[in-house]
Amino acid sequence: MSKLQNIAVLRGDGIGPEVVSQSLKVIDAINQRYGHDMHLEEGLIGAIAIDKTGSPLPQATIDICKKSDAVILGAIGDPKYDNNPSATVRPEQGLLAIRKELGLFCNIRPITIYDNLIDLAPLKPERLEGVDYVIYRELTGGIYFGEKTKKSDYASDLCEYSDFEVERIATLAFEAARKRRRKLTLIDKANVLESSRLWRRVVIDLAKKYPDVDLDFLFIDNAAMQVILNPAQFDVIVTSNMFGDIISDESSVLAGSLGLLPSGSIGTNSKLYEPVHGSYPQAAGKDIANPIASILSTAMMYRDFDLDEEANCIENAVKDCISKGVMTKDLHPDKDFACSYLGDIMHSIILDGADAIKPRSEEESYNNII
Ligand code: IPM
Ligand code: MN
Repeated sequence: MSKLQNIAVLRGDGIGPEVVSQSLKVIDAINQRYGHDMHLEEGLIGAIAIDKTGSPLPQATIDICKKSDAVILGAIGDPKYDNNPSATVRPEQGLLAIRKELGLFCNIRPITIYDNLIDLAPLKPERLEGVDYVIYRELTGGIYFGEKTKKSDYASDLCEYSDFEVERIATLAFEAARKRRRKLTLIDKANVLESSRLWRRVVIDLAKKYPDVDLDFLFIDNAAMQVILNPAQFDVIVTSNMFGDIISDESSVLAGSLGLLPSGSIGTNSKLYEPVHGSYPQAAGKDIANPIASILSTAMMYRDFDLDEEANCIENAVKDCISKGVMTKDLHPDKDFACSYLGDIMHSIILDGADAIKPRSEEESYNNII
C-alpha cells in the first residue's frame, strides 16, 4: 500500500482556492480509476488565515500538515499587504513559516516545453529546441530566513548558509542529474558573495562522489542571460533560495506561462506541492486562472510516492488538453477555456480517455490543434 494516504489541502489566497479545486477533481478521478481512498483535510494559510484567525499560519494548520503524508498548497498573497510596507503581519510569512516548520529544504521546479506551445512562447522557436531542465532551489535558508533588522532609516537582511544546508540539497541535485543527462549547474554569485563561495566549495567537494556528472558554474547575472539565450544547455540547476526564486520565474517564459510550472518540495519528514505562480489577485474568482501548474504539482506528489502510473496519467491528461487546444487564455488569447472546465475535462480524460474532449463549436473542430 502506498504511503500516500493523508493529504493536507491549503488553498490560500487569490487564485489558490480555484486552482486547488481542479487538483482535487484530478485526485478524485485518480481515486476512482486506481481504487485509492485519500483522506483530505483543509487548513488555513496566508491572508485568509490572517483575516480569520489573526495569524498567517495558525497552529491548527501546522498540526494538519504534520500529520499528513503530503501537503497541497494553492497560493499566498494579497495586494492589501503588498502595498503596505509597514504591515507587521503578512501573508507570505505563512508560506515561509510552513516551509520552515516542515523542513522543506529542497524545492524542485521542472521546466517542460510542450511542442504545440512553442510558437506561442515569446522566444524564438529555435531557442526552445531540446529545452528540458529542472531547478533545485534551496528553500529554508539564505536571505529569506537570515536575521532582519529594521530601523527608521536602515534595514538589512542577512544571507547565511552552512555546509550542511548546501550539501543536503546538492546531494539531491547530483542524484537527479545522474538519472537525467548528467549535467549539474551551480548558479551563484561567488565573485562577490562569501555565502556563494561556500556553495562552490561544498558542491566541488561533493562532486568527487559524482564523477559521472558534469559540473559547471554560472554567476546569477550570466545565468539570467543564458536562460534566454541558450536554455537547452541546462539539465539540473542547483541554487540558493533567492536566486532560485528569480531564475524560476524567468524560466517560465520558456514554457509559455507561469501558469504551467509545478513544484514539489522535499522536507526532512514532509512533502509539499505548490504551483510556482503566486496568488494573481486580479484573476481571483473569475474562473480564468490556469490550473495546470497546480495539477502538475499534484502529479509530482504521486510520483514522489512511487505512484508513477497515476502521475503519468495526470501528465498525459495535461498533454491531451494542451495538444487539443483546451487551455486558459494566458496561453492563447483565442482559447479561453475556464479554469473549472480544465478540471472537469481532466477528470473525464482520466476516467474515459482523451476522447472526452469534444470541440465546443463547428469551427473549433477544424481548428482545435493549434
Ligand atoms: C515562490 C514565491 C514565494 C517565494 C513568495 C510568495 C514568498 O514567489 O514560491 O516562488 O518567494 O518563495
Ligand atoms: Mn517566486
